[in-house]
Order: sequence, then structure tokens, then C-alpha cells
Amino acid sequence: MGSLKILLLIIIIPCLALGQEIKSTFFSRCEKFKEYDCQKLWDLFEKAHVNKDPCNISVEAYDRLIAAAPFKPECNKAMLWSLTEKWVRELKASRPECFQPLLKTPLASVLEGLTWCGKEGSKDTFATMREPKDNCNIQCNSISDSDSADYAASASGHVTALLNGSTDPPFNPSGVFACVEVPKLDPKKVQRLNVVIISENKAKSTCSHTCLNKLKEMLKGGISYTCKEVSESQIDDCINNESILCADCFSGSWVVRPSVLSFIVLCFLFMF
Ligand SMILES: *[C@@H]1O[C@H](CO)[C@@H](O)[C@H](O)[C@H]1NC(C)=O
Ligand SMILES: *[C@@H]1O[C@H](CO)[C@@H](O)[C@H](O)[C@H]1NC(C)=O
Ligand SMILES: *[C@@H]1O[C@H](CO)[C@@H](O)[C@H](O)[C@H]1NC(C)=O
Repeated sequence: MGSLKILLLIIIIPCLALGQEIKSTFFSRCEKFKEYDCQKLWDLFEKAHVNKDPCNISVEAYDRLIAAAPFKPECNKAMLWSLTEKWVRELKASRPECFQPLLKTPLASVLEGLTWCGKEGSKDTFATMREPKDNCNIQCNSISDSDSADYAASASGHVTALLNGSTDPPFNPSGVFACVEVPKLDPKKVQRLNVVIISENKAKSTCSHTCLNKLKEMLKGGISYTCKEVSESQIDDCINNESILCADCFSGSWVVRPSVLSFIVLCFLFMF
């Protein structure tokens, strides 16, 4: 009997100790994010798995936790993108100090840009047949993505948009970028949208593409706009060479209009 108790103690004590350690790590990490209510997040976190069969925890159990902790990019580090997922994944992995893009769930990237509908009396899914009037007709009816909307709404300072110069148009006109994210940029926080078009060998789209004018028109008043073309090898350098400064990743000079001072004040305001 005595040895059973000792055995139980040996098993339970490390378990409790581990639990405490997880809790303190959770809080010390969480508290770096000033906008999070860490106690609330911890309670949701515990609710998702405490007193449950560890082999039978639903994905939904963590959804409320994820919903309570939306991903917010730091000032100047928001990166929107369209048709450039490969580069964005690499930049996010190798230069997190420069860019904090939101990568979509696999399902969202599969569905991006598709429009679909059902049909009464049929079990099938149909592609919608509407032909766009021109190839940059912004079609937004079937897209909604609350993560992307929250992400774009919380961006501040300079926002980078990484677009693909090998496609025409350089972004998906019915995708999350054009339909959800750009309209959500908040002129009280965002000073400028810096469009970067990455050109591989043969460029099909440049900064003078007419679709980019539409994009510019979509920006709410007060947000300025710049565009530049950058070669693929320059992105590769930025991904592979950590001594390249964040500001030099898309080097060359931006066309800047508003004063640098107002921008610094903006960033400062939204950091606290
Ligand atoms: C798994 O959890 C669900 C919901 O909590 C429950 O309905 C189901 O019976 C559980 N399945 C098993 C195999 O325990
Ligand atoms: C850019 O577009 C081209 C043509 O559609 C495609 O082959 C390439 O993979 C795209 N680049 C990235 C990084 O997604
Ligand atoms: C990395 O970038 C630094 C600064 O621009 C440069 O001096 C250095 O030669 C680069 N290294 C490589 C391996 O390209």
C-alpha cells in the first residue's frame, strides 16, 4: 500500500510540476501581446482539453481559443499577398523579424479565387459562369474570411503587398487580397500600401497594369500608395541572407509623399 502511494506521488508530482510550467510559460509568452486577455485565453485553453479523453478532443474545442487570439501583425510588418504563396511562406519562415504575413489555412488557399454555387435538385457543385467584363473585374460575392479581415484591419504603419508579375493581372481579382484585405485597411492606422511585384524571367504585369489603378482607388482616403518591381533573385537574397536589412529586402527608393515624422508618430501610437 505504502509503495503504491509513493509510486502515485512519483507519477503525480512531475505531472503537477509540468502543468505549472506550462501555465507559467503560457502566461509569460501571452503577456508579450498587450492586446490579449491572458487569463481568458488560459481558461479557454483549459476548457478545450481538461477532463477530456486526450484522444478525443475535437478541433472545434480549440476554435474558441483561436478566435479569442486573432493574429495581429506588428507595425510595419503586415504583408498582404496574392498568387505569391511560395515566397510568402519562405519569407515568413526565414525573416520573421521583417514580415509577419497571415498564411491561409490549406482549405482557404484551395478555395481562394473560386466562385461556386449549388443547384436545387442536384447534389453537384457548379462553377459560376459569369465572364468578367475585363480581366480585373473585382468580383467579391463568394468570399468572406474573418481571419484575413481581422488581420488587415489590425495592420498599421507601412503595409507590404507581395504580388506576382508572372501573372496577368498580378493579383487575383476575386481573391481575399482584393476583396477582403485591401478594403479593410484602416486609414487611421495605415500610412501607406507598398505594392511589390515580383518578376520572374518573363514579366507579364508591371506597376503600370490597369488593375493596380483599381486597387489604388479601393484604398480609403489618407492611405498612400507606392509600387515597385523587384526581381525574383532579390527576394531569394532576402530569404537566404539574414544580414540584408529588412528595409533593403525590396531595395531601391519608394516614392514617399507624407512626412516621415507623421509615420513615426503613427507607429508609436499603435504600438501602445
Ligand atoms: C468523443 O467526444 C464526443 C463529444 O465530446 C462524444 O460525443 C463521443 O462519444 C466521444 N467518443 C468517444 C469514442 O469517446
Ligand atoms: C507566379 O505565377 C506564376 C505563373 O502563374 C507561377 O508559375 C508561380 O509559381 C507564381 N509564383 C509564386 C511564388 O507563387
Ligand atoms: C549578405 O548580405 C550582406 C549585406 O548586404 C553582404 O555583404 C554579403 O556579401 C551577403 N552574403 C552573401 C552570401 O551573399
